[in-house]
Amino acid sequence: MAEQSGTNESAGQARAKRRTLVATEQLGKYFPVGSSFFARSQKLVRAVDGVSLRVRRGETVGLVGESGCGKSTLGRLILRLVEPTFGRIVYDGRDIVPLRPSEMRPLRRKMQIIFQDPYSSLNPRMTVREIVGEAIQIHKLAPTKKDEEEMIAGLLAKVGLRPDAMSRYPHEFSGGQRQRIGIARALAVQPEFIVCDEPISALDVSIQAQIVNLLMDLQDELGVAFLFISHDLRVVRHISHRVLVMYLGKIVEQGSTEQVYENPLHPYTRALLGAVPTPDPEKKRLRIVLEGDAPSAIDPPAGCAFHPRCSRMVKGTCDRETPTLAEHQLGSGHKVACWNPHVDAPERSSAQLVGLDIPPSVQPAADRENDEKRESTAQAADGEEADGAAQAAEGESE
Ligand SMILES: Nc1ncnc2c1ncn2[C@@H]1O[C@H](COP(=O)(O)OP(=O)(O)OP(=O)(O)O)[C@@H](O)[C@H]1O
Ligand code: SF4
Ligand SMILES: [Mg+2]
Repeated sequence: MAEQSGTNESAGQARAKRRTLVATEQLGKYFPVGSSFFARSQKLVRAVDGVSLRVRRGETVGLVGESGCGKSTLGRLILRLVEPTFGRIVYDGRDIVPLRPSEMRPLRRKMQIIFQDPYSSLNPRMTVREIVGEAIQIHKLAPTKKDEEEMIAGLLAKVGLRPDAMSRYPHEFSGGQRQRIGIARALAVQPEFIVCDEPISALDVSIQAQIVNLLMDLQDELGVAFLFISHDLRVVRHISHRVLVMYLGKIVEQGSTEQVYENPLHPYTRALLGAVPTPDPEKKRLRIVLEGDAPSAIDPPAGCAFHPRCSRMVKGTCDRETPTLAEHQLGSGHKVACWNPHVDAPERSSAQLVGLDIPPSVQPAADRENDEKRESTAQAADGEEADGAAQAAEGESE
């Protein structure tokens, strides 16, 4: 691989040079709740509270965290399906927050979403042809009806559905097939970036691997970038190049998948990974157990929001001062927001790909053989290593 590319750089290093496609800077969304005429002040849910991230072209960034921590809101914010309360969203070098709906329209095509529930997200009264063709028509991507038909057939083939699926309705398909229809619909407009919001959690375990497989193949083929939101840490490890760990609206740890899974620094990340079952009793497991529910995002604890649940809490500091996300070793790209992270003896996580029937032919994202092909394709397309978005997202070293 290195010989072919003429350098000794690894796939990971090459990937790190790719151009940033999406970046956020101190992005936030506070939802007003429980307003009443008599209420003295408006209560706010701090669903997303100052998130800075970046996703490079052709990259999969995993986003994990407990229910209600703000994952879906963050995904929707980036697509401007939800309006931010504060912060910036930079898409391909352009701040998209001030854009009017008419200015957003061409960008909408490039940014898509795949939802958790493949049934409720598909109109039951529309045939597959209509569902997939709708976006093609809106964006005028096919000059003639025949072209449109060919495009739809091509998309269905890409996601592993037969051409006769066109004339059928969503209820005639299984959950996995419906998710394939949702993916075909997202791909119809040739997107560059897709938010995958729990795309497999409503599916049978046996089908989950097929959909994960499909997404990885599509990324290899089309170079599309994913923000992959999931509760399932095994799947996130499998599909992601980098991982973000979210707690009560903030990113508390981020790094390459290997960094986060092999050397988790934040007590919360460790607790999450410790909850992943392992089939091998001999394997060392992290014994940290996550106790109690996450506190409310309406009135988060002072200081580090994790402190009421943290065994490493330092009184007087953790309960007073909010830690910021910073690199634990300069230049490593591995960031943590914690006053007392696990930087001592790195303990290997026990997170395993269990209970998920992923064929051996599908290697983890970080190791895939065709990485090099993807690197060179992406770099040739990008033509440069840094861009405006990357500079705009200053402070994000990853
Ligand atoms: N429209 C809304 N109005 C008020 N509060 C909201 C709204 N949407 C989300 N929230 C709140 O924002 C917080 C984050 O919600 P979000 O759906 O983003 O979490 P999540 O991490 O995706 O959870 P899950 O894993 O259960 O899908 C929650 O406290 C939720 O109740
Ligand atoms: S800052 Fe303190 S309370 Fe928060 S995770 Fe780190 S050690 Fe625990
Ligand atoms: Mg969600």
